[in-house]
Amino acid sequence: MPRRVLIGSLVAGVLISAATGFVLHPTQASPSAAVLAQRIALGKQLFNDPSLSADGTVRCASCHVPEKSYTDGRPVAIGVYGHAGTRNTPSLLTIAAASESSFFWDGRRTALEQAVLDPLTNPVEMGLHDQTQLLQRITRSSAYRAAFAQAFSDGGDSPTPNEVGTALAAYVRSLTLPDSPFDRYRQGDRAALSPRAQLGLALFRGKAGCAECHRLDGSSPAFTDHAYHRSGVGLDGIAANLPAVTEGVIARSLQGGAVGDRVATHADEAQLGRFNVTLDPADIGLFRTPSLRGVSHTAPYMHDGSVPTLEDAIDREVYYRSLQAGRPLNLSVEERLDLAEFLRSL
Ligand code: HEC
Ligand code: HEC
Repeated sequence: MPRRVLIGSLVAGVLISAATGFVLHPTQASPSAAVLAQRIALGKQLFNDPSLSADGTVRCASCHVPEKSYTDGRPVAIGVYGHAGTRNTPSLLTIAAASESSFFWDGRRTALEQAVLDPLTNPVEMGLHDQTQLLQRITRSSAYRAAFAQAFSDGGDSPTPNEVGTALAAYVRSLTLPDSPFDRYRQGDRAALSPRAQLGLALFRGKAGCAECHRLDGSSPAFTDHAYHRSGVGLDGIAANLPAVTEGVIARSLQGGAVGDRVATHADEAQLGRFNVTLDPADIGLFRTPSLRGVSHTAPYMHDGSVPTLEDAIDREVYYRSLQAGRPLNLSVEERLDLAEFLRSL
């Protein structure tokens, strides 16, 4: 191959792998119920194992705490050696409920099997050097070797990253929300929502315009449009520096490296949201619409955890979204309480 072409394709390869990571294929299209149960059990074990972190103290469940709806109650996450990240830990309970097909606040991953591997090597989350180190830690346990061999009988002798991702994703997908008062109301139990929550539902769908993005349609409403919107949160702090921060993102993205690692270690760049993934200036400051299922259990709020309570989050959204839509909305104190009561029923 002529040298120029070789270099050209190397650069293209780096760009492609920086943008997408390596391609993972779920090991088996649809495993039997027994195999799926084995994968879920294995995924749960991995999820709770601190030996898969650089300092041996952090596991997935350190930040996705089961008793806190799989969040950590902190504004931003704290990982190995006490390093703080830049983003608020999202609940994992809405992933299956909302049929999510893009992951993280900026949607940088489109396969859950990939998303679940990222924290393991993120420098401020679990901090492993690379996936080779991950596999070394797993294979030194004979119990893991046996569990992988059982859950992936079509695999080779030793566990692969693909299998680790498949097992963790199977576990995350198995985490579901119990039926909520809103679900029971939808199924015909009119008494499941208080009169105040019913007023809140009407506001949410109607005058307050929330359902334009936190969508209510379909047989099991996801409370998200799976799209990205300007957030109004956080961008103010870097407005004066925007050109420099934007150039920083572009420069670093050309050096390769995972988007998630960059975002977690550069607070300013993290505020640019979707732009970190697409490098399209139109995407500066856009974030994925979060599902609001179970939202009363996941304070603090927004991508940077800067909004402490549900009431504050409602006030912010009422103000900012109506400003954005160009139709100023004045909701009374009573109406805001109605909205809050409705959100607590999800
Ligand atoms: C140090 C805290 C921390 C640890 C440890 C951690 N996470 Fe997370 N997790 C986060 C944060 C923060 C985000 C959001 C990051 C972002 O959007 O940029 C996140 C996002 C996710 C998402 C995407 C959720 C969504 O709705 O888009 C998944 C899936 C996930 N984590 C799974 C895991 C798994 C599996 C592990 C263990 C291998 C793990 N996490 C370990 C903090 C953590
Ligand atoms: C234009 C689309 C859009 C509309 C309309 C909208 N939201 Fe949001 N909402 C978002 C996005 C995007 C975020 C995430 C913003 C961020 O993190 O920076 C969000 C975040 C939230 C959060 C925080 C969730 C969390 O887990 O952190 C709450 C609560 C919320 N919205 C409630 C509402 C309410 C109530 C209304 C109606 C008054 C509303 N939203 C209208 C797009 C919208």
